[in-house]
Amino acid sequence: MGERLQVFLVFLLYFLLVIGFLFGKRGVMVVSTNDREQWGSRLGFIMAAAGSAVGLGNIWRFPYVVGMNGGGAFVLIYLAIVFIIGASVMLAEMAIGRGAGLNAVGSFKKLGGGAWPLVGWMGVIAGFIILSFYGVVAGWTIAYMLKSFTGLMEVASQGKAGDAFGAFVSNPTQVILYQALFMFGTIWIVFKGIGEGIEKYCKVMMPGLFLLLLVLILRAVTLDGAMKGIEFYLKPDFSKVTGGTVLSALGQGFFSLSLGMGCMITYGSYLNKDEALPSAAFTVTFLDTLVAFLAGFAIFPAVFAFNMEPAAGPGLTFITLPSVFSKMPMGAVFSFVFFLLLFFAAITSSVSLLEVCVAYFKDELGWDRAKASWVLGLVIFLLGVPSALSLGGHFPKIAGKDFLDAMDFVASNLLLPLGGILISLFAGWFWLDGCKKEISNQGRLPFVFEGIWVWICRLVAPVVIAIVFVKGLKW
Ligand code: PFF
Repeated sequence: MGERLQVFLVFLLYFLLVIGFLFGKRGVMVVSTNDREQWGSRLGFIMAAAGSAVGLGNIWRFPYVVGMNGGGAFVLIYLAIVFIIGASVMLAEMAIGRGAGLNAVGSFKKLGGGAWPLVGWMGVIAGFIILSFYGVVAGWTIAYMLKSFTGLMEVASQGKAGDAFGAFVSNPTQVILYQALFMFGTIWIVFKGIGEGIEKYCKVMMPGLFLLLLVLILRAVTLDGAMKGIEFYLKPDFSKVTGGTVLSALGQGFFSLSLGMGCMITYGSYLNKDEALPSAAFTVTFLDTLVAFLAGFAIFPAVFAFNMEPAAGPGLTFITLPSVFSKMPMGAVFSFVFFLLLFFAAITSSVSLLEVCVAYFKDELGWDRAKASWVLGLVIFLLGVPSALSLGGHFPKIAGKDFLDAMDFVASNLLLPLGGILISLFAGWFWLDGCKKEISNQGRLPFVFEGIWVWICRLVAPVVIAIVFVKGLKW
């Protein structure tokens, strides 16, 4: 009962904060003009888009998927898929967004009409769903930053990191509190707007993330026995490459590049008409892949140097790594650095998820940014509570899956691939001329790969994604 009361108090606190904000800010809100907000600079846009792409998916999932799928052999396949299909779909999304100058739903309404806005709708719904559980896991990174200095190292050095993680995620008050904190940060940044919020924070956090990653890599590769980890990570093992490998490369690539839900449409809509889109899409794809690839060098050498198991996902991040850090001199500092890195990666992605929803409510329903950010943020936070409770078994399973996994499944395996297929078809067949004009800045900027890009959008991407989609339907 005490526990429930605490959960209730957390809610109440959150609610009060929201109400306070809505009313407190009303008087000083900038009167909205008809001008759409814009990125302050090309660099700002690239940092924001790369911030969206580089997320939790890059730091823990990519290295593990590489290690288990044939190392270097997988990396080659991933590179081919991401740079051919991923970059093309990203370019299509940016072109649609900038062409329409609107949110995902509005863009399809303006450029396509008919049933096309449904694609944008799916994106907005995916945004709600993904952010609801993303906020839960991202909240753990805040908790673990603090725990790094408050006993986590001692517990982990006694081999009890797993028990500590289990106890943490089964404590609803703790999990919901950190989820609320994380969501508060996300809402705050989105509420501040495009230039003064998302761009400003991404421009600091993305270089920061890179720096922290380099610190961790330097530490990891200079440990005795680091080579074994690098071997596990990269040694090409072609026997592990199967049809399934290609599927996991595409699934991973799509989620990692934030494609299929109108995120790049939304970000593209704030971009100046003179900027070159192809190089922007390429740069964002490159940065996302670079960070994913480098994350493996920070993780595996350390895991192998201390003879730990390279486990998957949350297990590796929240159990194995604290144990690894506890064995290093100054482990608490490296642990803090690692979770801060994860936090930066997560929040620069979560703001893009919220922005997809906020942009829709702003453009289509006429809400102001403050109202859209705080109200939608609160709704998404509430939607995430069942996910937060599900890990400790405090929420009923859905057809055998934890609520969090079920949400992840619906968004990542259904909505994103379906969105990806439809967006490619829209760009390749339905709005091709408009897309070509947008990509070439009305003919002023020659796009050498145009012919290839068109056929990737028309045929290659829809067919390949459709195969992944059908395979991924297994609950
Ligand atoms: N790309 C993010 C990651 O790798 O963690 C997740 C994500 C963000 C997916 C934004 C979709 C999106 F629109």
